[in-house]
Amino acid sequence: MNGWLMYPPKDIFDREAKLRAARLMEQRGRLQRVGSGHNGGRAGTLLLDRQKLARFQPARERVAGHLVDGALPIRRRRIEGREILKVEDLAIHFGGVHALDGVDLTARTAEIAGVIGPNGAGKTTFFNCLSGLLTPDRGQITFDGHKLNGSPATRGRHGLGRTFQTPKLFGTLAVMDNLIFGCRTADSARRQYVFDPGLRRLSHQERAARVARLVGYRGDLNAPAGSLPFGDLRTVELARALCAAPSLLMLDEPASGLDVSQAENFVELLRTLSDLGLSILLIEHDMSLVMGICDHITVLDFGQVIAEGTPSEVQNNEAVIEAYLGREH
Ligand SMILES: Nc1ncnc2c1ncn2[C@@H]1O[C@H](COP(=O)(O)OP(=O)(O)OP(=O)(O)O)[C@@H](O)[C@H]1O
Ligand SMILES: [Mg+2]
Repeated sequence: MNGWLMYPPKDIFDREAKLRAARLMEQRGRLQRVGSGHNGGRAGTLLLDRQKLARFQPARERVAGHLVDGALPIRRRRIEGREILKVEDLAIHFGGVHALDGVDLTARTAEIAGVIGPNGAGKTTFFNCLSGLLTPDRGQITFDGHKLNGSPATRGRHGLGRTFQTPKLFGTLAVMDNLIFGCRTADSARRQYVFDPGLRRLSHQERAARVARLVGYRGDLNAPAGSLPFGDLRTVELARALCAAPSLLMLDEPASGLDVSQAENFVELLRTLSDLGLSILLIEHDMSLVMGICDHITVLDFGQVIAEGTPSEVQNNEAVIEAYLGREH
């Protein structure tokens, strides 16, 4: 079975959508099964609603306490975002597998854009094409008004930050040194920190320490990154990406492998960073997380966009329900 979420957690799809999905499955004589894909069956553990988000206020205040001179908006800004990323007709194949096949996507400033889809849908390949690890067969990527090309490092200097599905850090180097790498990228490209402009005035060490606290890392900054527990690896990887002062941050399943409280902190952090003006492109398997924090969602299946829109538009979309529930295995 290649399913990642055979049966959606209860408050992802509304009642009507679930009834339609159940009818669809019944017609096909298929049973509802709880998935245990590579997400370890955790899907749906994190339930987000307005009341729950309100309980995150202390976390927001904690983040605010770590800003050098950024002001934390009291409520989520409704900014008319401008386009920061425009992807048109992106395609790449591996042998006979069309991992991406004509993908279009637009991300706007100060928004959280979600990319979802079953295992093998092409999500990570999409990020790899954006970050320059893979060269697409065709397609146009416009980032911050310019055609995006060059090595991953060049794209990083232009403000494209990312984390990986499996965290990638220099394992033998201290956490601090990993973060300083990020700071060097920011300085070599004279980048401003969108989420906290005052960081630019600090030394690399102070800046790294502050960003580490901002993301909630409480461990030893001198510990080798390779010795960290998994949750800390994710946090430090995020800190490293932030140290490089991205204008668009791409996160590949940042909550997978985190426990519920770590994931909740993570959600609040992402929302807060977005409130502070950072644009975020998020691949995530935890559907309630995606539905709870994304402003806009693009759904991939077999390398193609099968739906896009607001969370409520997507969760009521027949093709999305079918991709999640109705796929032959
Ligand atoms: N380097 C590669 N060589 C060959 N095939 C690849 C390569 N990278 C990805 N693929 C294939 O491309 C398709 C898309 O893979 P991708 O990793 O992008 O999916 P994904 O949506 O990120 O899945 P997951 O949710 O499991 O992370 C899959 O069929 C995968 O096997
Ligand atoms: Mg992936």
